[in-house]
Amino acid sequence: MKIYNYKKSHALFKKAAEIIPCGIYGHYSPSPLVPATAYPFYTAKAKGSRIWDVDGNEFIDYMCAYGPMVTGYGNPKIEAAAAKQNKLGNCTTAVPPIMVELAEYMTDLIPCADWAFFAKNGGDVTNYAVMVARAATGRDKILMISGGYHGVSPWMQTAGHHGVMDDDKKNVIAIKWNDIAQFEKTVSENKGKIACFISSPYHHPVFCDNEYPADGYWQSIEKICRREGIVIITDDIRAGFRLDMRGSNEFFGYKSDLICYCKALANGYPISALVGSKDLMNAASKVFYTGSYWFSAVPMAAALANLKEMKRTNAPAFMLKQGEKLLNSMVKIASNYGYDLKVSGAPSMPYLRITNDPSLMLHQEWCAECTKRGAYFTSHHNWFISTAHDDKDIKKTWDIVDDAFKAIKKKFGDEFQL
Ligand SMILES: Cc1ncc(COP(=O)(O)O)c(C=O)c1O
Repeated sequence: MKIYNYKKSHALFKKAAEIIPCGIYGHYSPSPLVPATAYPFYTAKAKGSRIWDVDGNEFIDYMCAYGPMVTGYGNPKIEAAAAKQNKLGNCTTAVPPIMVELAEYMTDLIPCADWAFFAKNGGDVTNYAVMVARAATGRDKILMISGGYHGVSPWMQTAGHHGVMDDDKKNVIAIKWNDIAQFEKTVSENKGKIACFISSPYHHPVFCDNEYPADGYWQSIEKICRREGIVIITDDIRAGFRLDMRGSNEFFGYKSDLICYCKALANGYPISALVGSKDLMNAASKVFYTGSYWFSAVPMAAALANLKEMKRTNAPAFMLKQGEKLLNSMVKIASNYGYDLKVSGAPSMPYLRITNDPSLMLHQEWCAECTKRGAYFTSHHNWFISTAHDDKDIKKTWDIVDDAFKAIKKKFGDEFQL
């Protein structure tokens, strides 16, 4: 099997590091890619489930741009809708009518949604959701889950991070996932002060196993929040439309007051949405919140076409099925070599870890070996399945996975055998 090299990618990064902070910053930064020498840094083109880097290497992309690609790069239906709108206009004075059409479609699709508000990035709408909850309740405290990620505003970041002040975090209380007793205790210690509980529908942190809600978890949360007047904000930015078209809260059987969407909304076009219940619409109207590109019509047209296509094909069910198919055999291949490959989270958004080595070093080595053979896997973050990942991709991935296990077995011998 061919082993890739990344001469052009890495040369470009060297140049970038002199003129761009970090060279590549944020979640695209090479720093969690271990070893970084095993990864490409620059995509030259993309189509369907594949990306090609600037060195001409082809990858089956299991990161899907960290979530936004959901119906295949360059999906003709979505591209046609975007191109049609672009001909009419994109960023214009006065709002495009497609905004109303998209809001209508989303409020029909999502049972908890009586209204929809559009922005660009996920962090725009998680921040707005908290402002709406504060405006509605007149309270200042935000309850969240430790290790949960909601964007890069200072209140969302970890205390002690560069540029984050203690004051930014003073109204944020972080508690453990799936711990109702701690939730109840925190609420009673802060009675009448908590505006909202913001959480993803299931826990998908980086570098560790992802966790579904325990039986009755969300239902207990819902009961406490209703009793105490706390607004429930579901951060569905990552899992949204990869579990259920109606919202991941429906998948787990609870009602949410506000739901944040972004990644899978428009197959890569920049748009995010906050949807909410009727009783919060007045508060949402009062909060001043806007941006230069938030009324752009092309991403709205792409979102509408993408949602319709996903609904027509029952995309979440397909991605869950394809994910399960891919992962079940990968676990078997791993065991043939004496490795325990643990899968957690949704099969359409799985996090994997080789348990033989808790330091994750072996897992990093294996993900790197897969990537160098054409299956782009990160070791620290959940992967993403799209509707473009077909059986041919899956079969090719199994071959790559097998060869990569062979390579790490050769390198480490019996060192990490259970
Ligand atoms: C669960 C969750 N919330 C919020 C965000 C922030 O979204 P964005 O990076 O688009 O601002 C992300 C991004 O990864 C996310 O995964």
